[in-house]
Amino acid sequence: MVKKVKSAGNTSRAVWIGTLALGGGLVIASSAALASTAFQQGAQPQAAQSQAKGESQYPQLPEGPGKQTLVRVCSRCHSPTNVIANGQSRQGWEDTITKMVGLGATGSDEDYTEILDYLVKSFPQVTSKINMNKATAADIEKQLGFSAKQAEDIVAYRQKNGNFKSLEDLQKVPQMNVMEITARKNRMTFE
Ligand code: HEC
Repeated sequence: MVKKVKSAGNTSRAVWIGTLALGGGLVIASSAALASTAFQQGAQPQAAQSQAKGESQYPQLPEGPGKQTLVRVCSRCHSPTNVIANGQSRQGWEDTITKMVGLGATGSDEDYTEILDYLVKSFPQVTSKINMNKATAADIEKQLGFSAKQAEDIVAYRQKNGNFKSLEDLQKVPQMNVMEITARKNRMTFE
């Protein structure tokens, strides 16, 4: 059983394989539960089908192989759209996935390979940061992958209370989930 993960790149493969045994059953169980909920609610077969493919979900994320897997494996703790804020090199994405496994993400070795390829292709390295005291709601949504509502709430709070000084200030925005902020912290500045 994999308990602690060191972030050294060459341990990642062993960790991924270790997680396969731990996580596979849970993932299957939860997607079956989702599918049966949709059925009970009488969802249109077409809608259910495109949702199963991950197409209509999270339109901010580009379509492509691996998107559906990302949504399935990476939505539990923070929204999967946080990846928009974290574009990086292949090595960087590998390290991030290894880190997420260490934090408790559950998926198979194949899932992680698909997610890695999708992320490398869709979100290459970015180094620019977003100044949370100057950015418009549109910037916050597009560059950081916050929802439109979250972006508007951030700007409204800033207009009312003045500049943010730190991540902690951002956490005071009403209805803001702390995890959504920490999962984007590398791209934000408070100038
Ligand atoms: C078990 C909960 C959990 C799951 C599942 C999860 N994450 Fe995270 N993620 C976190 C936490 C906690 C942080 C904040 C870590 C920090 O502040 O150091 C985070 C932060 C991030 C970051 C910001 C960069 C960083 O290193 O902190 C990225 C990118 C990210 N996650 C991507 C993913 C991807 C891709 C997946 C799916 C493979 C995933 N996450 C699944 C908990 C999770």
